[in-house]
Amino acid sequence: MLNNKGFDLWADDYDKSVGLSDEDETYPFAGYKNVLNKIYGSVLSHWGKVVLDIGFGTGTLTSKLYENGCEIYGQDFSSRMIELAYEKMPDAQLFQGDFSVGLANELKQNKYDSIIATYSLHHLTDKQKVDFLNMLMGLLKEDGCIYIGDVAFATRKDMEECKMQVGDEWDDEEIYFIFDEMKKHFPQMIFEQISHCAGVFYLRRQL
Ligand SMILES: C[S@@+](CC[C@H](N)C(=O)[O-])C[C@H]1O[C@@H](n2cnc3c(N)ncnc32)[C@H](O)[C@@H]1O
Repeated sequence: MLNNKGFDLWADDYDKSVGLSDEDETYPFAGYKNVLNKIYGSVLSHWGKVVLDIGFGTGTLTSKLYENGCEIYGQDFSSRMIELAYEKMPDAQLFQGDFSVGLANELKQNKYDSIIATYSLHHLTDKQKVDFLNMLMGLLKEDGCIYIGDVAFATRKDMEECKMQVGDEWDDEEIYFIFDEMKKHFPQMIFEQISHCAGVFYLRRQL
């Protein structure tokens, strides 16, 4: 599993390498642009524009939301990713911190219309995902929504099939979202499969 220094090293090459995997429709980034586009459209169709991005990376998605008038908050643990994202979003509120140990205190002071996390939360165990998402749900405004875009599958069987096809390229250190297992914790969760290995989850606050 990459630590913050690993992501620092990947940062300058990140957009290019992700783009290539997406274009080739190969694991892990097949469907990447469509995943981001889905979330982009959903966030902008909401009347409220306060957005928190967990693991924003180079700011590929958030910078587009920023350009469309969204107020951007975010947390990432890679200082190089933060530098690159700041270049695109000078007025964003970006904090450095490891989300596996929680959210920066400054970010806990706000409520958000949309909370987004693309290709970042697979660094958490399933138990950590559930706890973290429950905490994030408490930071949503009343009609807010959490959007997760990532390598993801409807069932564990689907994931095992993909793993077989991918072979040696499969990353055993990443822990992917599996919809029918997550749904036990979040019955209101909705899942949309976007490519053979990626999907988007929609998680509204339970009132
Ligand atoms: C694969 S990149 C995804 C970036 C961006 N969201 C995207 O969709 O292109 C994962 C990002 O999450 C960050 N990240 C990974 N684990 C993290 C952690 N435990 N705490 C904070 N940031 C983390 C990395 O630094 C990196 O910027």
